[in-house]
Amino acid sequence: MLKTKTIFDVESIRKDFPILQRKVHGKPLVYFDNAATSQKPKQVIDALDFYYKNYNANVHRSIHQLGEEATAAYEQARQKIADFINADSHQNIIFTKNSTEGLNLLAYSLTADLEKGDEIVISQLEHHSNFVPWQQMAKHLGLKLKFIEIDDEVKLDEESIRKNITKKTKIVSINHISNAIGTINPVEEITKIAHENGALMIIDGSQAAPHMPLDMKKINSDFYVFTGHKMLGPTGVGVLYGKKELLENMRPFLYGGEMINEVKFEDTKFNQLPWKFEAGTPNISEGIGLGVAVDYLTKVGMENIFNRDKELLDYAMEKMKEIEGITIYGPKERASIISFNVHGVHAHDVSQILDSEGVAIRAGHHCCMPLMSVLGIVATARASFYLYNTEQEIDTFINAIHKVKKMFGV
Ligand code: ALA
Repeated sequence: MLKTKTIFDVESIRKDFPILQRKVHGKPLVYFDNAATSQKPKQVIDALDFYYKNYNANVHRSIHQLGEEATAAYEQARQKIADFINADSHQNIIFTKNSTEGLNLLAYSLTADLEKGDEIVISQLEHHSNFVPWQQMAKHLGLKLKFIEIDDEVKLDEESIRKNITKKTKIVSINHISNAIGTINPVEEITKIAHENGALMIIDGSQAAPHMPLDMKKINSDFYVFTGHKMLGPTGVGVLYGKKELLENMRPFLYGGEMINEVKFEDTKFNQLPWKFEAGTPNISEGIGLGVAVDYLTKVGMENIFNRDKELLDYAMEKMKEIEGITIYGPKERASIISFNVHGVHAHDVSQILDSEGVAIRAGHHCCMPLMSVLGIVATARASFYLYNTEQEIDTFINAIHKVKKMFGV
């Protein structure tokens, strides 16, 4: 798998992203904060503009031309997303606001059927969005929350996976790729272990959906969440994939308009999938925009993007290894995320000096405070690459790190 050689032309891709033309502090923008949010191609920006100028209307309600056009485009986007991840049908695809909302939906809805003492397993490597909802539900409902530990390479410890997932486990929720470190987790294997023990498997794919081909039938998890804005799409739209029979039996998360079939004074019949989980007017233009982003990614090819990410990662890692006094966290085999610290310099200072050279990275705990405490640090600097980045930009980044070291005398 994933052997195809990189075949796309980075320079022509860059022309699709208007923001890459701008300067920051008088220097060309080098955008290496892709794990936080990606930039958007003009195709996506134009789709939003075209929607508002030509067929802005509410979906699934209005019996008029604009309403029909908006509904068709919104539902077509859903189908594109189903195809993108090889889901069975549009009924598996719930539009959410983002991954956080998808995970909260699951935390509220799935724990409704649990009993005191039931166990939920997450890991030390999770983003707060796959941590706090489970922690709080466990607290409110008397459930037991367990954590798969990381090993010295910041990978999920195999023994800890087997030790924590047992017949008492009801839900396992793990990220596919760690946003803070770039570790790629063995989600297919963990799904098998969860299922052998009768537990439901949830995967937070926020960092995977933008960067690798996904096949829901192969991964076989019960749920998979991701967000549009990290994969060239607009903010405000995300996706919850779920197996149909499970979604059908789950309690809705938000109640209101759109998610109903019939409302009487005594009770309500809920809408069919996927709308049962989509209360209120959705983010229509954003959903349509995400469909266009998926078209863009598909055209470039997800295997090509995965391979290009790896080329950039390998190039940057080679250069970074030559710099003394740097710690890079995480395993050798990883996604295109480099989390590091320059000895004797706070990550925020690293980020600020890089910014003065036009290089945008993220610094901080990356919404992973428990992970930082296990690593015994408070923050890292993080560079994350995507399809429009270049080796030349990595050279600028490396020179900027040398500037940091020079300024701090380290
Ligand atoms: N979760 C996003 C990040 O890792 C915001 O930066």
